Amino acid sequence: MNIAVLGAGYVGLVTSSTLAYLGHKVVNIETDEVKLEYLMKGTVPFYEPNLENLVRIVVNNGNLSFTGKASDAIKAAQVIFITVGTPSGIDGQPDLSQLLNAARSIGQALDSTQHRIIINKSTVPVGSGNWVEMLISQSIQQIQLTPARSQKINPISFSVVSNPEFLREGTALIDSFYPDRIVVGVSDDTSSSVIRKLYEPILSQSFDQPLNILRPKHLKAVPLIEVDIASAELIKYASNSFLAMKISFANEIANISEKVGANINHVMDAIGLDSRIGRSFLNAGIGWGGSCFKKDVSALINIASEYDLALNLLPATVKVNEAQRLIVIRKLQEELKIIKGRKIGIMGLAFKPNTDDLRDAPSISIITQLLKMGSSVKVFDPVAHDALKQQRPDLDVIFANNIEDLSRDTDALILVTEWSEFILAKYENIKKLVRNPLIIDGRNCLNKEHLIELGFNYKGIGL
Ligand SMILES: NC(=O)c1ccc[n+]([C@@H]2O[C@H](COP(=O)([O-])OP(=O)(O)OC[C@H]3O[C@@H](n4cnc5c(N)ncnc54)[C@H](O)[C@@H]3O)[C@@H](O)[C@H]2O)c1
Repeated sequence: MNIAVLGAGYVGLVTSSTLAYLGHKVVNIETDEVKLEYLMKGTVPFYEPNLENLVRIVVNNGNLSFTGKASDAIKAAQVIFITVGTPSGIDGQPDLSQLLNAARSIGQALDSTQHRIIINKSTVPVGSGNWVEMLISQSIQQIQLTPARSQKINPISFSVVSNPEFLREGTALIDSFYPDRIVVGVSDDTSSSVIRKLYEPILSQSFDQPLNILRPKHLKAVPLIEVDIASAELIKYASNSFLAMKISFANEIANISEKVGANINHVMDAIGLDSRIGRSFLNAGIGWGGSCFKKDVSALINIASEYDLALNLLPATVKVNEAQRLIVIRKLQEELKIIKGRKIGIMGLAFKPNTDDLRDAPSISIITQLLKMGSSVKVFDPVAHDALKQQRPDLDVIFANNIEDLSRDTDALILVTEWSEFILAKYENIKKLVRNPLIIDGRNCLNKEHLIELGFNYKGIGL
């Protein structure tokens, strides 16, 4: 199939390269000139494991190309994906300006040569399917009313489908090739059959697994959940809100656990074995971050308020998370007493391992607070230094070259991102480098007993 994908961010580029690998002809449209230049040179402008290699393969076999000009790519495509950003705007309302521009550019380019399916993969408020359809229709009408076109008006036919994305940064290609399910919101049979054809190799798992993107052993087929558009849009928000709520729940229990002398890891391991609960997303720590959870939880709260519905669980989920980030500062105060003038080493910047994404990263809240309190902050992250330099040049931090360099002469180390480099580090060497052997493990991922044995003052969350 000929496909156009608007947006070459995490979701757009992963979608484009996955579909191109499955044999479709994909043109990925990107309006950001800097990103486009990177892509044209064969470089992925962000860090995602195995993505650059996959992009190289599908560009070389001719299935994927990039452009900044939407019009030709949209005209040539039968299926058009929207994967533009929908960040949080004012008061937690999603900023839909990228979606608006994308819909308009689609409407301006569509012609009557074939029926087009427009698939929205961006996370959008319920009702956006209707809104996108309206915007595209308005653009079509405006173009048809221009004097050059008004003579011969042919009907332009298209349908809008919702296809929320559930990939996780860091394992985006695994999630894209081997998803737990594909959710589609459709309102017509043609769209339904085109989507099934488009995703058939994934649904039947009939493709050869790409190098280093290994198919889970148990996976034989992927279910396709076909629902109405509003349900598909709500599924995405509800899913992220539930995951955020699970983490905030674990953190509330961690705080009780610390007071009563229990061990949160034991508590969560045991409750997670209950098949009704499950162990994932029950890790206590400094809380969730990233591009999706906060904006999606806030958007769902907003959707409810538009219907005069006051939600209780979700505002509490956000509140717990905000407080949780600064727990490491409280622990630091308890141990060091004075924060001013102290040298603090921050282990990890990205909101989670295997990505350089800093959107809503807890590291930023912690660094900001430490700088405000007058400490000197050194940071080390295996991949996110450039992102911090570009996005937060105002943060006056020292960049370390590695974990040893980070540790030298510090009064405390705070583990913020559970990169394997930190889990596997040689702490016997680090112990010799630090000024004060205090380590605050914000992800409960280090070996507490081993660190205590080495002479560290180890502080976890809820332990
Ligand atoms: N990042 C994730 O982990 C993730 C997971 C699931 C769903 N989502 C959702 O997917 C959507 C995209 O997220 P993302 O992280 O890929 O965002 P992103 O900001 O990384 O990428 C969006 C890209 O779209 C480009 N763009 C904007 N307007 C355009 C236009 N009119 N034509 C072509 N390109 C345009 C931007 O320049 C940008 O590169 C969001 O709605 C997000 O909530 C994200």
